[in-house]
Amino acid sequence: MSREKLVEIARHVIDHGKAGTMEQADDIYRLPASSYYDEALFEKELQGIFHRVPLLLAASGELAGDDAFKTMEVAGKSVLLTRGRDGQLRAFMNACTHRGVTLVGAECGNRNRFTCRYHGWTFANDGRLLAIAANDDYGDLDRSAYGLKQLPVRESAGLIWVVLNADSTIDFDAFLAGYDQMLAAFGFDQWDYVSTRTFAGPNWKIAYDGYLEYYHIPVLHNATFGPDSTKRGLYYGWGPHQHIKAPALQDGYAGTEVLGYLQDIADKPESEWDLETMTYGVWTVFPCTSIASFAGGGRGVMMSQILPGATVGESVTNQVYLMEKAPVGDDLVEANRQFDWFQEVVMTEDYAMGYSIQQSLPGSGIDHLPLGRNELGNQRFHQWCAKVVAAQSDEDLNALFRAAAQGVGIPNASAG
Ligand code: FES
Ligand SMILES: [Fe+2]
Repeated sequence: MSREKLVEIARHVIDHGKAGTMEQADDIYRLPASSYYDEALFEKELQGIFHRVPLLLAASGELAGDDAFKTMEVAGKSVLLTRGRDGQLRAFMNACTHRGVTLVGAECGNRNRFTCRYHGWTFANDGRLLAIAANDDYGDLDRSAYGLKQLPVRESAGLIWVVLNADSTIDFDAFLAGYDQMLAAFGFDQWDYVSTRTFAGPNWKIAYDGYLEYYHIPVLHNATFGPDSTKRGLYYGWGPHQHIKAPALQDGYAGTEVLGYLQDIADKPESEWDLETMTYGVWTVFPCTSIASFAGGGRGVMMSQILPGATVGESVTNQVYLMEKAPVGDDLVEANRQFDWFQEVVMTEDYAMGYSIQQSLPGSGIDHLPLGRNELGNQRFHQWCAKVVAAQSDEDLNALFRAAAQGVGIPNASAG
């Protein structure tokens, strides 16, 4: 039951907050500087990470209503998600099996069949090839062998993970390491999808590093989050996934939900600790997603997907907004103001730093980047990227994730 673990974590956070202490990594970690700009490594990351491990691509609420679908461009591949009237979620390569044309051009909608715009083949939303245009002229073909390429998918905790490899033998349970059961505490399966904002950023790891530490918050975000916001994060790990909380207790603070301040429950008995407050903070999902709470216009989260772009120096960020209840009236105005603010902060503060890194680092003569003992989340993230890229096969990946899942101890803020 995730409540017990959330209480355990909250107790750990509050104890540190009251004592004015934190946890540190064992040592400073030296990241090769080239890992931010090496083109060959970027290609290996596409193949070794993005085309092999389950990716959190959508929230269940994005595929609402009968015959909902959604398409996405992810790491050079086009993906089609569908939900049939049977409620079953499916994922496919968004490619017609006749010549490979992108089958569905729309980003989302509700449709139970898709007709290819090249020669008119028609597919059902369960992937079956329903009809070959001018079939008599075309000739005999076993239609059952030419359905859409189906991808492994897992819908859990109101979230949807997809593997971009039809032949994958990845073990979802080993990869998730129980983290989806923690995320289930939000109840996303009952939440409403509100909107998505998409914008460009620097290298995906440069961009993602900013979601993994609070060290920069009072400095870079001094005009937005404020100079008194915490610079300390506590990290709780499940396999490669990490939850971040602030071991600080500050009343009425602007970053309360986003950064995971727990002052509202600090002096209450544990029996009164509510799930909403205990889920505050940042929930990162390997390799490239961050889920952070906010309260403007109602209870909500911003799910940020930082997807690799066409080159090593480009990424695409989708900020997906989910709310416990779709806001209306003044709440909607307030929610939109919050979304504007998040997008502004990320683009003009975080990603501006990222572009500056890309400009300066390659020719600087700096050969490594020292990640501090207070940057445990970044240390672990880069170590996980290296381990996953180095794995030879899905079997190796499964062994890696199983071994990490066995080692999960919560809280395990100091475990490497
Ligand atoms: S490519 Fe789709 S019908 Fe020919
Ligand atoms: Fe930031």
